[in-house]
Amino acid sequence: MKFGYFDDAVKEYVITAPKTPLPWINYLGNENFFSLVSNTCGGYSFYKDAKLLRLTRYRYNNVPADNNGKYYYINDGQGIWNPGWQPTKTDLDFYECRHGMGYSRFTGKKRGLRAEVLAFVPMGDNCEINRVTLTNETGETKDFKLYSYVEWCLWNADDDMKNFQRLLSCGEVEVKGSAIYHKTEYRERRNHYAFFSVNREIDGFDTIRDDFLGAYNNNDYPESVVMQTSNNTLASGWSPIASHRLDITLKPGESTSLIFVLGYIENPVEDKWESYGVINKKPAEAMQERYKTDEDVEKAYARLKKYWSDLLSIYHVESKNEKVNRMVNIWNQYQCMVTFNMSRSASYYESGIGRGMGFRDSCQDLLGFVHLIPDRARERIIDIASTQFEDGRAYHQYQPLTKKGNSDIGSGFNDDPLWLIAGTSAYVRETGDTTILSELVPFDNDESKATPLMDHLKRSFDFTATHKGPHGLPLIGRADWNDCLNLNCFSEHPGESFQTFGPSEGPVAESVFIGGMFVKYGKEYADLCELLGDKKEAERAHAEVEIMEKAVLKEGWDGEWFVRAYDANGHKVGSKECEEGQIYIEPQGFCVMAGIGVEEGKAEKALDSVKERLDTKYGVMILQPAYTRYHLELGEVSSYPPGYKENAGIFCHNNPWVSIAETVLGRGDRAFEIYKKTCPAYVEDISEIHRTEPYVYSQMVAGRDARFHGEAKNSWLTGTAAWTFVNISQYILGIYPTHKGLSVDPCIPEGFGNFKVSRKFRDAVYNISVETNGAQKGVKELLVDGCRTEGNVIPFEAGKREYNVTVIMG
Ligand code: BGC
Repeated sequence: MKFGYFDDAVKEYVITAPKTPLPWINYLGNENFFSLVSNTCGGYSFYKDAKLLRLTRYRYNNVPADNNGKYYYINDGQGIWNPGWQPTKTDLDFYECRHGMGYSRFTGKKRGLRAEVLAFVPMGDNCEINRVTLTNETGETKDFKLYSYVEWCLWNADDDMKNFQRLLSCGEVEVKGSAIYHKTEYRERRNHYAFFSVNREIDGFDTIRDDFLGAYNNNDYPESVVMQTSNNTLASGWSPIASHRLDITLKPGESTSLIFVLGYIENPVEDKWESYGVINKKPAEAMQERYKTDEDVEKAYARLKKYWSDLLSIYHVESKNEKVNRMVNIWNQYQCMVTFNMSRSASYYESGIGRGMGFRDSCQDLLGFVHLIPDRARERIIDIASTQFEDGRAYHQYQPLTKKGNSDIGSGFNDDPLWLIAGTSAYVRETGDTTILSELVPFDNDESKATPLMDHLKRSFDFTATHKGPHGLPLIGRADWNDCLNLNCFSEHPGESFQTFGPSEGPVAESVFIGGMFVKYGKEYADLCELLGDKKEAERAHAEVEIMEKAVLKEGWDGEWFVRAYDANGHKVGSKECEEGQIYIEPQGFCVMAGIGVEEGKAEKALDSVKERLDTKYGVMILQPAYTRYHLELGEVSSYPPGYKENAGIFCHNNPWVSIAETVLGRGDRAFEIYKKTCPAYVEDISEIHRTEPYVYSQMVAGRDARFHGEAKNSWLTGTAAWTFVNISQYILGIYPTHKGLSVDPCIPEGFGNFKVSRKFRDAVYNISVETNGAQKGVKELLVDGCRTEGNVIPFEAGKREYNVTVIMG
């Protein structure tokens, strides 16, 4: 069952019923100012950091669902309603929500009045624009009142939820003209404020929440709206809000528009005040001025649209498969931008106050983003590397505002350092910019300890090479990619965080997965050494990789698949010897991706075992059999009910690993079959089962053991986005950036048909036309501008801006 449809021509998903199974959201903002917005106008806004600089308040674990947002209420004398349905939930005569690239459009109609809200964050500015267009579609004049409503968050969203004894006395506002200013804490150490304005003279306002809603009211029945009045009172403490009232008359057929701006302003310390206690509003007024007219809004909107169509033209496929085109050309890349911006901080499943930018998460997000805006990827790599420790270890996360690492959610995850090599290698392959490698980067943000980025990579590499356990495999530390495989934790009491409790390192527990990673990224590290002319280091790296490869093949092989790990007692995890959790997906995907066991036939066996033991119609599960009891020696992985999350859920993130691994073996049918199972465009038809947004990936789909098999959770912020884009664009369609140029080596299912890819790479455009010839893998002929070329890599020609490439498979 569907709740909408894809409108590919305008790159939108159109939701036609407000009661989607879960809130279906979109992200506004590409740079510093961000808003989350649901299909019923719920959500919140923040500047740079969802925890530290939150502008508007959201309620978690809310009942009714998705409670609080940027709302517009209309009272036409016969009742109150919202164009986005919530929060009054008045039945609309027409409802539509169009989520597009960085904008959302809501249309609601009631009793002949049509209200459309266009919401977006303009490029280069720190605000959200909401243009509300009202049209009288009846033959009679309409008099009605329109109210806006946002509830301010008192900046630090964590404090805002907890520190009532202080914060309920701090709220302060100013009102000037049609702008309501939120200046809480500005009197002391904050040099920033927010405002909510409208480009028209208002007929009233409210800034005190209880005045507007009425004591004990929910926001579905605000007293001001119901009574058709406003209190015009100034908040002092408690919960300040911003609400404008506009009394509107529309003749038959007449239309009017109102431009609301939610803005964020920072003032220099010496320029904070206009007069005693009165904030300096000049920059805010200039911002309001920038979006005064419909024309201003149209211009900013057009700029945003162009920004996105330019970005999305960097990789564009034309195939006969509409769903692949849709995901590759629009939604998968869009989600890669969102994960790049947000890491795992703010979504409808990440509160914005828990996690900041993940070290491993952000490094992986880069893989699907680097082609879009390489300069931003470059900056991110430096930011991430700046939090690394001198011995190569890493903080698990850092706050986006301070860019400083913290251990709040643990540290000592021994896969972290290697992801830095993955991200940097992807950047250099994409851009050819080796100057990043000599960039001086601090350790633990201490500039006095800065060394070239390449040295950071060396330390990442050496960290793994020198932290090995009894089987010559990498020590797992707190955990590896699978945060929940806590082999040194031994937590016995509720409330202890698996990520922070117990020692972060043990001398015995090892990870085969990190072994696979080391082989894959160790080779990429060696490539970078060679690129810099350091042959000796490259040889050393290859030698270490070889040692690891041997260890994985010997100690990490279980007969039919790769073992997952060794626990703190030296017992195998993810082996046929285990009572539960006999096979895990991660080492199968990663070891085969790294090329381990391909020659020996072990790779094929491992992937066949995945198919036999882990496959379901909704995707490949992370492990089997599910843990049915808590295993002290394994930690969080066994804490989830069977079928959920890391305990035998379909963890979408590592499905592309297995799909890529299949392409390594040339099995295009199987690679594509795995791709399809979790692909949003393919699961759109079962939205009532899948439940999360049908245009983006979710972190997890409940596995076979779960009561609600097939149900997804934790949409949007997942490494699945980047990895799937890597899979489909670089492995299945096969256009892979190498240091020497673009290589073309598709691995497609039977019947996929010929396809074309247009790829901007470094300074040129590559128009690649693939004739599949009935083959799943193998390039028989590569023609570059009509000339036959050896191998799979399109050689660079200095100064050339366009390459016309024909690939004949077979
Ligand atoms: C985390 C990832 C982790 C994955 C598997 C996600 O929630 O963001 O860093 O690799 O879970 O445990």
